[in-house]
Amino acid sequence: MAACLQLNAKPLKPLLQPFPSSSNESLKPRAIRCSSAPSPSKRRYSITLLPGDGIGPEVISVAKNVLELAGSLEGIQFKFHEMLLGGAALDVTGVPLPDETVSMAKQSDAVLLGAIGGYQWDNNEKHLKPETGLLQLREALKVFANLRPATVFPQLVDASTLKREVAEGVDIMVVRELTGGIYFGKPRGFSTNENGEETGFNTEIYAAYEIDRIARVAFETARKRQGKLCSVDKANVLEASMLWRKKVTAIAADYPDVELSHMYVDNAAMQLVRYPKQFDTILTNNIFGDIISDEASMITGSIGMLPSASIGKSGPGLFEPIHGSAPDIAGQDKANPFATVLSAAMLLRYGLGEANAAKRIENAVLDTLNRGFRTGDIHSAGTKLAGCKQIGEEILKSVDSQVPAVV
Ligand SMILES: NC(=O)c1ccc[n+]([C@@H]2O[C@H](COP(=O)([O-])OP(=O)(O)OC[C@H]3O[C@@H](n4cnc5c(N)ncnc54)[C@H](O)[C@@H]3O)[C@@H](O)[C@H]2O)c1
Repeated sequence: MAACLQLNAKPLKPLLQPFPSSSNESLKPRAIRCSSAPSPSKRRYSITLLPGDGIGPEVISVAKNVLELAGSLEGIQFKFHEMLLGGAALDVTGVPLPDETVSMAKQSDAVLLGAIGGYQWDNNEKHLKPETGLLQLREALKVFANLRPATVFPQLVDASTLKREVAEGVDIMVVRELTGGIYFGKPRGFSTNENGEETGFNTEIYAAYEIDRIARVAFETARKRQGKLCSVDKANVLEASMLWRKKVTAIAADYPDVELSHMYVDNAAMQLVRYPKQFDTILTNNIFGDIISDEASMITGSIGMLPSASIGKSGPGLFEPIHGSAPDIAGQDKANPFATVLSAAMLLRYGLGEANAAKRIENAVLDTLNRGFRTGDIHSAGTKLAGCKQIGEEILKSVDSQVPAVV
């Protein structure tokens, strides 16, 4: 089983360096072959694939091919196990997370997920919703740390909703606590108040150890980036945030090389659109992280470009694009697969410690963008509109034609 928390590699930094455009656009033979560089013994990994619903199977199919090729060039062999999750699992087994899926995921070295959800399951009872399956999976894998990079690609800077001078050069890593806080806190439920009115309630709660472990992931992450960590909370109002700030401040003593700041979440939401370049690494709780990372994603232009990694203390990590199942474009070959392909790169880097193979994929994404290929969500005048499958083919060409990556 692969050790997780491979935080000793630089996270996605290379993405900010424009890769020289490849002039060779012909499709080279794509037979799986070994790297010409001397490689240590052949590494073998077992990967659970969870295509899920909507565009999930389309983007996973692309990412699987890219993983296979980049891996083979680095002497890595994968064994893939495709399992059911979400609506796809509900339709076949009656539950959103079958036991077989949990068992296979736990046995594997890493898990790559597409997306779950769709209109047809929207009115299901809560325990029979696709989203419940995903939350249960995160809980089962104990992946408490969610890393979400929001990087503005130089080629896509005009796709940002912000002005060029504000968006250009933005490179943020949001480290979000994933298995605690108000999404899981108890008590929760529905009740009736003294006036006989219906109420709904939830509990925002954090234990010290939960703050401690996510804070350490964030400090380690910041240390490998620009060395700046901003912890986002609501310590002026919420007790859970007061404890959060106290613990994070205490842990900072172990990381004298990291510059720690604190910011209230309402201000952070504002600063992200005012001057996002002030942020390097952001640490925050489950609910604030959910919102902040989606906001950060919009700076980059499209939700279809953003990967994520969810990792625990040990055991397999869960890697997935941050977007949903996009039922409005499912089955039309319109999905942007870059986020899932970059999630596969995160799987290699953070889940398996295979930084060279990760770099190959990141470089190939840049090269494909440099050669002008775009799905509809990031298409602009002068670029080449392509479907999900064609983008996949172009990324494979780029993986195949790049010089071996050196990290
Ligand atoms: N992690 C997950 O699997 C996840 C996350 C969010 C939402 N969902 C589920 O997905 C379903 C749809 O939710 P939603 O519409 O709010 O969010 P969504 O992310 O699926 O889609 C939002 C918008 O972005 C577009 N979009 C998303 N990903 C894209 C891609 N790769 N390429 C091009 N365009 C893309 C969609 O077409 C849509 O217009 C719901 O059932 C929701 O619960 C799942």
